[in-house]
Amino acid sequence: MNSYIDCHSHILYGIDDGAKTIDASIKIIKNMINLGFKSIVLTPHYRGNYLTNNKEKKLRLFNLNEELKNQNIDIKLYLANEVKITSNILDLIKEDEISLLGNYLFLELPFDTKIYNLDKIIYELQSNNINIILVHPERYSYFKKEDFEKLIASDVLFQVNYESIIGKYGLDSKNKVKYLYKNNMVSFVASDVHSSSTIMFSKFDIIKKKIIKLVGEETFNDITYNNINKIISELKK
Ligand SMILES: [Fe+2]
Repeated sequence: MNSYIDCHSHILYGIDDGAKTIDASIKIIKNMINLGFKSIVLTPHYRGNYLTNNKEKKLRLFNLNEELKNQNIDIKLYLANEVKITSNILDLIKEDEISLLGNYLFLELPFDTKIYNLDKIIYELQSNNINIILVHPERYSYFKKEDFEKLIASDVLFQVNYESIIGKYGLDSKNKVKYLYKNNMVSFVASDVHSSSTIMFSKFDIIKKKIIKLVGEETFNDITYNNINKIISELKK
């Protein structure tokens, strides 16, 4: 069985619209382990009603790790955030509100409204040594091929969702994700899991086959394990 590392998940309990309880977190983690996941980056939403600071998140992560230990469940968890775009991200980092994975920020855009100062925000973050991982670019309805190309040219990395290729988010997202795979624009594939009943858990083999058909085995291993593993390995140094 392949090994995977997930880099986008809503497993940390009681913070956002993902797992509500520690038991719900454990249930999702068990499902991930069954698919071959060895490490998971927890990326609770930071937006609107979901504004939990780092201290609170770390406390929940500690409790979750204790419970995993008690139940002899072997998984490595890392903490980051899925941060909805705003012009004060640098302040949020300074104020210890949001977590990055090393110096990688998981950035989310609005689904239906184009952000006109996106270039400026990206430039400002990159000038402060922050690398940007744009989460699920295939899900932004207003994105066109030129937008993907422009972002890639600006060194923004793309993380797509496993379930997009089987149409979970509609035909437009499915077509866009195919385009991204075919044009080598994907750096990471992730679950974006919110619950233990998400379709990925019953359709993982089909999803895997579809992705491999588009990118080949070697790239599949890079985008599901090696690329994120490089970032995580740097954290340990
Ligand atoms: Fe998410």
